[in-house]
Amino acid sequence: MRTATVLVPVLAAISNVAAQHVHFDIPEIESFVASQLSRFSQWTHYPGPSPTFWSHPSPSPTKPVVSPTSTCDYWLADIKHQGIAAFNPNPSTYQVFRNVKDFGAKGDGVTDDTAAINNAISSGGRLSPAQGGSTTVTPAIVYFPPGVYMISASIIDYYYTQIIGNPNCMPTIRAFATFSGGLGLIDGDQYGANGLGFGATNVFWRQIRNFIIDMTLIPGSSSVTGIHWPTAQATSLQNIIFQMNDQADTQHQGIFIESGSGGFMTDLTFYGGLYGATFGNQQFTMRNFTFYNAVTAINQIWDWGWTYQNMNINNCTVGLNMSSGGPTAQSVGSVTFLDSSISNTKIGVLSAHGPNSQPPTAGSLVLENVQFTNVGQAVVDGFPSNFTALPGGTFTVAAWAQGHAYTPTGPNNIQGTINPNPRPGSLLQGDGKYYERSKPQYESHNVKQFISVRSFGATGNGRTDDTAALQLAISAAKLQGKILFVDQGDYLVGSTIYIPAGSKIVGESYSVILSHGPIFNDINLPQPVVRIGFPGEEGSIEWSDMIVSTQGQQRGAVLIEYNLNSPSSSPSGIWDVHSRVGGFAGSNLQLAQCPTTPDVNVTAANLNQNCIAAFMTMHLTKSSSGLYLENVWLWVADHDVEDPQLRQITIYAGRGLLDESSAGTFWMVGTAVEHHTLYQYQFANTKNVFAGQIQTETPYYQPNPSAPLPWPYVRSLSDPQFPAPTTTSNGVVIPNADAWGLRIVNSQTINIYGAGLYSFFDNYSTNCSNQGNGEVCQNRIFEVSRSSGVSVYNLNTVGTHYMIEEDGTDVAYYGDNLDGFVDSIAVYRTG
Ligand SMILES: *[C@@H]1O[C@H](CO)[C@@H](O)[C@H](O)[C@H]1NC(C)=O
Ligand SMILES: *[C@@H]1O[C@H](CO)[C@@H](O)[C@H](O)[C@H]1NC(C)=O
Ligand SMILES: *[C@@H]1O[C@H](CO)[C@@H](O)[C@H](O)[C@H]1NC(C)=O
Ligand SMILES: *[C@@H]1O[C@H](CO)[C@@H](O)[C@H](O)[C@H]1NC(C)=O
Ligand SMILES: *[C@@H]1O[C@H](CO)[C@@H](O)[C@H](O)[C@H]1NC(C)=O
Ligand SMILES: *[C@@H]1O[C@H](CO)[C@@H](O)[C@H](O)[C@H]1NC(C)=O
Ligand SMILES: *[C@@H]1O[C@H](CO)[C@@H](O)[C@H](O)[C@H]1NC(C)=O
Repeated sequence: MRTATVLVPVLAAISNVAAQHVHFDIPEIESFVASQLSRFSQWTHYPGPSPTFWSHPSPSPTKPVVSPTSTCDYWLADIKHQGIAAFNPNPSTYQVFRNVKDFGAKGDGVTDDTAAINNAISSGGRLSPAQGGSTTVTPAIVYFPPGVYMISASIIDYYYTQIIGNPNCMPTIRAFATFSGGLGLIDGDQYGANGLGFGATNVFWRQIRNFIIDMTLIPGSSSVTGIHWPTAQATSLQNIIFQMNDQADTQHQGIFIESGSGGFMTDLTFYGGLYGATFGNQQFTMRNFTFYNAVTAINQIWDWGWTYQNMNINNCTVGLNMSSGGPTAQSVGSVTFLDSSISNTKIGVLSAHGPNSQPPTAGSLVLENVQFTNVGQAVVDGFPSNFTALPGGTFTVAAWAQGHAYTPTGPNNIQGTINPNPRPGSLLQGDGKYYERSKPQYESHNVKQFISVRSFGATGNGRTDDTAALQLAISAAKLQGKILFVDQGDYLVGSTIYIPAGSKIVGESYSVILSHGPIFNDINLPQPVVRIGFPGEEGSIEWSDMIVSTQGQQRGAVLIEYNLNSPSSSPSGIWDVHSRVGGFAGSNLQLAQCPTTPDVNVTAANLNQNCIAAFMTMHLTKSSSGLYLENVWLWVADHDVEDPQLRQITIYAGRGLLDESSAGTFWMVGTAVEHHTLYQYQFANTKNVFAGQIQTETPYYQPNPSAPLPWPYVRSLSDPQFPAPTTTSNGVVIPNADAWGLRIVNSQTINIYGAGLYSFFDNYSTNCSNQGNGEVCQNRIFEVSRSSGVSVYNLNTVGTHYMIEEDGTDVAYYGDNLDGFVDSIAVYRTG
């Protein structure tokens, strides 16, 4: 990277807005803003102001919490609702925030509220499952005040909906005994005549949190589901209690997922049920569940990879049943299960994996730090022999695995105890588990402790440049020790937005920061859109429920740059903050601008320069440390979300997530990075990472053009360099110049608990990944070089000829690790 003068226009913009449009009542803010403006003028070079400036007058981080006046008050209900859907056809009338009581719901435990709730969700021309497709222009929060909401039929979820209950007095959604029809008290993706309404792998950007889902009035003999949730990335369930019938013959289930490409869930409690939950999906990360008195706590019907962290299963017959399909046709690819407990349960894990089961590596299982208490059999190969793979009793298993191991050579077929991963102390809680922290909902804070970006003149209308107003709001919130509420909207920014240590920022149904303009368009002078801290700055931040995006050509945009040095005892946290590059209304990077061109030989000369839309998506810089990421999806669009047919598009974004922190200490819980040109995840010169499940996809256009086009090589960022294609002995040409899914260079102690690295396409054709075609979309997808202490549990690849390259040598051939559509390795470790 070179440096240059870039902030002059910014200063002008800030001064202009500060003078003309923004009025403050609070003298402190005026002086802070004045000092900020004067200091901005001293810093005209990337990477910007010296760290010392921002370490000055920091508000007390321990300001007393102003509790709600009534225990049921919740700021999100009380705050002024000013969110707008910027690219909706009618932004002035479209309602983002909906309180179900305003739509006639009573919540009195008597009245049938089904129609009122469904009306609160559907009103305003929102996208229904009957229509299918997808859209970003009708975002909504559907809020439930405390109460008991009786329903007689399913609540039908629409696209881009956040269904949120009051976390202080959690609302109950209770089905009448006569509840009928539908799949789920809440049906996240209603079936229509042609199957699921929304394609499950395209259901993004939605949440449900803070509810009691009560099915107990319904007889146990009736099959009923709490939440039907076939979804994809950037979706979450949080803080939900499922109450089910717990008789021996009960037919209830808490959650049902049969397809999709998830996803994340946390803090769920299940009482009773034939199945606490039934799960089938490509991959998911699930954390902090507790099950009581189910017949089977988790019924795993199929997957490629799955990460269960902090599961607590009590008094069930079977903890995890992953034997679906039986030994000749196992449908569960792999499961990683850590920091968990199973007690008073007959069978801990029931699998169908065995020495001769098919596919050979299906049913891969890794347990690490799992405490068994009074368990009949800990792990059973249920078919056909009911073989006790791990006997029961009361004990803690440090680590145990079945499947293929490469440590680092293989494959070795293993079933038994293994050494657990060495865990750096900085990544752990007091109890020895990896550190966990759920998305803050600030439920104990009074609405007076929030300020809204709208109060600082930010419009969020997707048309006005909001750089200055957004920056002032962030600075003012920090100065006052308040939480910044970013009302729904698209906030256009023409220069870097800086988030100082101490900031707490929360969006509304994924408020968007949308970069535009020349500052972000220099491929030789990349600039962060959002810069969290300056190099050397200490302290931490919290940030949730937002999206960072670009508009039009943005060849130098680094969407999120994290520089803060946060202590491992109070790390920064980012939850449900995603990136979205292209493919949505307002991006100017849609079907019309960026169509696919599979029939054109794409070269440097004819490549569509207008669709070069981001330099890098997330940069954890050298001096940064201490960041907890949870449910973060860094997506370069492969299709136009607004197009009813979801047609594919071609967008170029250079680099996905680069972690080059020398001190390390990062948690990546349920993260995914997709469709960047050079790599999805790259760990370079770093250490001490906990990650799981990670998921990647290679760009669909590659190798037309091949990597690194259109990006010049940048040595200082440890960019990869790509060799020519390989031609096999039978004449098949396999690309080598396709993006890496995962690249680990000169790094130590990178512990990955579940990885799905997928390459489905070659020049927009899926022939290369069709099962039996030799996995020839790309030759290699995962590189480890000059590193030690790298451990990957349940590595699943698609379309990739060699699954691991270590120091220039191919160590795992796909054909040795067949697992149906994917190829799986249960345990990989560097030597
Ligand atoms: C787990 O979930 C429960 C119930 O929501 C919550 O009280 C607890 O704080 C969570 N624990 C962690 C480690 O997230
Ligand atoms: C265990 O679960 C059964 C229902 O499956 C229930 O009847 C029993 O009370 C539970 N035992 C305890 C100790 O909770
Ligand atoms: C486990 O799941 C399989 C397939 O879904 C089912 O056939 C079997 O009965 C289940 N086993 C138990 C003990 O629940
Ligand atoms: C498997 O064998 C154990 C021990 O013999 C027995 O207790 C259990 O009921 C059997 N389970 C099944 C599913 O057959
Ligand atoms: C891409 O595939 C199409 C067929 O789908 C083919 O016509 C074209 O030549 C391919 N382009 C390159 C550069 O391989
Ligand atoms: C694409 O064009 C390049 C440069 O002219 C040429 O080397 C290459 O062979 C072409 N590829 C195809 C598939 O036509
Ligand atoms: C994909 O395979 C089908 C069937 O074998 C073939 O007809 C088609 O031409 C192939 N497409 C490409 C782009 O190779």
